[in-house]
Amino acid sequence: MHKIQDVEGKEARYEALLADAKAILAQESEPILLMSTVSALIKAYFPEHFWVGFYRCNPHKAEELMVGPYQGSMGCLYIPFSKGVCGRAARFLQTQIVDDVLADPEHIACDARSRSEIVVPVFDAHEKLIAVLDIDSEQLAAFDACDADYLEKLLRLVFSSKPLN
Ligand code: SME
Repeated sequence: MHKIQDVEGKEARYEALLADAKAILAQESEPILLMSTVSALIKAYFPEHFWVGFYRCNPHKAEELMVGPYQGSMGCLYIPFSKGVCGRAARFLQTQIVDDVLADPEHIACDARSRSEIVVPVFDAHEKLIAVLDIDSEQLAAFDACDADYLEKLLRLVFSSKPLN
């Protein structure tokens, strides 16, 4: 593990986060273990983000997400694919960056502090959607293409590069 407080700059923090995730999770294939640890690692490297976590595809109901492992204040329990930034990421299978959540009519406010967010789809080794990663910030426009690139890389490394349980 890196000494997190010594890693400065967004790219350096993501590089250290990727190296940690690789070292800690390479041999692991249990989705809840992976999602819990990835949430904790992102929160450790980016403590300024107040909500970091996963919504999983509900195996019992088509086109619905249900809250999974996360770090932060209580999140909504269920999000249909037709609602929310999370639902949009699941529908279009593409990363969503929202600079100003108040200007996005689809956004669901689980916590009034939220001003911007990024939602990244999570795929298994067969390119099947299994979840989305949601990160929320109190700052406007906290996320950009750099976050999208690194988070997509992290999720590919952890969830798409091997068979999951
Ligand atoms: N803002 C999300 C909902 C989930 S929470 O913020 C934890 C959305 O619009 O889908």
